Amino acid sequence: MINKLNSKIIQSRRSTYPRDFNGNRIKDSVIKEILENANHAPSHRMTQPWFFKIFCDHKKISLANAIINTNPHSSESFKKKIFENFEQTSHLICICMKRHKTIVPEWEEIAATSMSVQNIWLSIVNSEIGGYWSTPKYAENLNEFLKLSTDERCLGFFYLGIVNSFSIRDISRNNVNDKTTW
Ligand SMILES: Cc1cc2nc3c(=O)[nH]c(=O)nc-3n(C[C@H](O)[C@H](O)[C@H](O)COP(=O)(O)O)c2cc1C
Repeated sequence: MINKLNSKIIQSRRSTYPRDFNGNRIKDSVIKEILENANHAPSHRMTQPWFFKIFCDHKKISLANAIINTNPHSSESFKKKIFENFEQTSHLICICMKRHKTIVPEWEEIAATSMSVQNIWLSIVNSEIGGYWSTPKYAENLNEFLKLSTDERCLGFFYLGIVNSFSIRDISRNNVNDKTTW
């Protein structure tokens, strides 16, 4: 038997977007606890490829400007959306991955980093905090701003914010039996 609480937590995990954030700030101590959970993800050969860059307060403005400046053709509506979303968001966690080329294949390190993101996501279940993983194309253009070296990569941003009331949302999955053979 598994603990039903585990299933409840896993099945309650959901994406919540900046439009539902109230703009209030999450305490850094809470962010640190979430990151501690992220750091408990598994990785093959314990390469622990994940690392994080946190953007809050004025650093969100620097990030927004970097996104806009590295996309010279970005429209006015794109710029407006970025600033609006960032204002609603308390902290953006930039999800980064360091490759250990000679030790394990890339997919295993993307998988391990994704598991650290899942830990972030599960950490906020049943709390006043909402969030989601955003993987925009422009993340590829930010290496210089993020000071990433050639063996490092940005895998998007995890947006975190405080939510007054979670919108009702039921994104159902296809039946697991159709995805399983015994
Ligand atoms: C690897 C990955 C990348 C994602 N990238 C985006 C994204 O760029 N934009 C977005 O709106 N949602 C993104 N999402 C969130 C998914 O849209 C969301 O998880 C999915 O709709 C299921 O909703 P749920 O998380 O509430 O169960 C991403 C999720 C994953 C796992």
